[in-house]
Amino acid sequence: MLESVPEGDPQGEAEMLLAEVLNTTKSDISNKAYQSFKRHQDNDNDLLTISNQEWNIYKDMILRRTKQEPIQYIIGKTWFYGRQFSVIDSNYRVLIPRWDTETLVLTALQNIGNSKSVLEVGVGSGCLITTICAEVNRMDVRFIGTDIDAGAIAIAQKNSYAHNTNVNFILHDILNQSIDQIIKINHCEPFDIVISNPPYISTKEVESLEVQVRDFEPKTALDGGSDGLLFYKKLSMLCKGELLKTGGKIIVEIGYTQAQQVTVIFQEEIDGVLLQVDSVEKDMSGNDRIITATKVVNTKSVIKQFA
Ligand SMILES: C[S@@+](CC[C@H](N)C(=O)[O-])C[C@H]1O[C@@H](n2cnc3c(N)ncnc32)[C@H](O)[C@@H]1O
Repeated sequence: MLESVPEGDPQGEAEMLLAEVLNTTKSDISNKAYQSFKRHQDNDNDLLTISNQEWNIYKDMILRRTKQEPIQYIIGKTWFYGRQFSVIDSNYRVLIPRWDTETLVLTALQNIGNSKSVLEVGVGSGCLITTICAEVNRMDVRFIGTDIDAGAIAIAQKNSYAHNTNVNFILHDILNQSIDQIIKINHCEPFDIVISNPPYISTKEVESLEVQVRDFEPKTALDGGSDGLLFYKKLSMLCKGELLKTGGKIIVEIGYTQAQQVTVIFQEEIDGVLLQVDSVEKDMSGNDRIITATKVVNTKSVIKQFA
């Protein structure tokens, strides 16, 4: 049945789902399936046994997968940077963390230095801020994460707790709410580092995404406005203002065609302040994926302004 799922891995997924039902590992299932096949040939007892109830749960899972529901939602979890993250909680779903996004973790870890505060805008499952907090493992750094979606905040909180990290999550709409609340939690100081993997697909493109994404993942996690750049423009404006300290870093994930446009947005001066792009990192597939920029003040522009 799973052969009908586009870009699926029928055998691997069938084993993964069975492992979930039987509360074991995929490699255990592969091994037992092989041993059972050999025993069957020898007219011996099978090793793989399954109750009626387990069989019904398994069939239901397979049916969901044939309707192109991502396997991560069916089993309720995924892995990111070597850690397990829930992606579903009762009726709530968050964006399934992507491998490409692990590049943002690496870039953030390279830039953390002596930073005392890290803000993530749009946490989803919390995979980014939780992973960075766990990897940094320093009590003197404040980690704060925001999301517009109350379901995402609940899931991120659970994931952070499961990984024994201390992240402060806040329900907040970065496009429409004042940032006072966020700054206040950071002891009324601008942040040293702001990270985000914001929604960056244009509204029109969202409708043409593959079924597995378009029909199952939350639209609020995907839709970056008419040109896909809405969140970069807003974050850029806020970071040139009070959100980021001078000399601080903004690190964002981008769509693979957006490096040039985001660079222009970041480097455009507002009152003599700009986000000077330091690097554009590629993901594991070789596509532009992560932009890092430093907040700098162009003293010449400032002097000119007040001359
Ligand atoms: C692309 S997902 C990234 C999730 C997670 N950080 C990751 O990398 O897997 C973007 C997230 O931004 C959140 N978001 C969308 N609009 C927002 C807004 N106006 N303010 C804050 N968060 C928002 C979505 O709910 C979603 O969780």
